[in-house]
Amino acid sequence: MHRPVPQPELTQQAIGDEITERHRHERDAAASAGTPLAAHPRRDFAPYRSTTLRHPTHELVRADPEEIELVSPAFGHTDVSAEEGDLTIQHRGEPLGERIIVTGRVLDGDGRPVRNQLIEIWQANASGRYVHKRDQHPAPLDPNFTGVGRVITGDDGSYRLTTIKPGAYPWKNHRNAWRPAHIHFSFFGSAFTQRLITQMYFPGDPLFALDPIYQSIVDPAARERLVARYDHDVTEPEWALGYRWDVVLTGPKSTWMEPEDADHA
Ligand SMILES: [Fe+2]
Repeated sequence: MHRPVPQPELTQQAIGDEITERHRHERDAAASAGTPLAAHPRRDFAPYRSTTLRHPTHELVRADPEEIELVSPAFGHTDVSAEEGDLTIQHRGEPLGERIIVTGRVLDGDGRPVRNQLIEIWQANASGRYVHKRDQHPAPLDPNFTGVGRVITGDDGSYRLTTIKPGAYPWKNHRNAWRPAHIHFSFFGSAFTQRLITQMYFPGDPLFALDPIYQSIVDPAARERLVARYDHDVTEPEWALGYRWDVVLTGPKSTWMEPEDADHA
């Protein structure tokens, strides 16, 4: 593999200055409006260049939420096998890299467990490479690692995944742009309005301050909530390092549940 040709000169310093300026603007706006900083990333966050092309610019079409919820996804234990939560056993051999366990609980805004719900993850391999045709940066694929998994939360809202710690990878937002190591998570939740797609990060990553995606969340406390905690009690001797990451899905206080005797046509 050859090193790629350097990208045009949009420097990390310039992106960092844009992030600082945008954060200052958001803090000032929140202070003068007397509102808290937004916990979710801004759809339009210019330092993360492609955000400006990715979201609707017109008024959304209004739909009856009752009708949406009738066709929202609902999954049960029978759809997901236990092996899907272990990304290290999906091939004949073992993947390269640092084996890790990621566990935690999924709760709703009132602290109740979100039970029996689907979590999907996807991630790069230990070298920072995705199995995807659009990822062509010169890091090796691992024939023993696909990087996708699924689990169902237990009665206490808990989940547990075994995988490989993903590597940092470059992206072309600006010159020398690198993503901090992360795992993508999708939580279906128990109601349409609880659906959350986010990323989990690893503690102490030196790339946090430089990453416009992580920094597109302007509230520092909300950013911090995306970082898993190293937990030595989760770590297993001679086997894997353990991380704990709890998630709160906000949504209606009374969540929609598909009745047990529903007709699954
Ligand atoms: Fe990613």
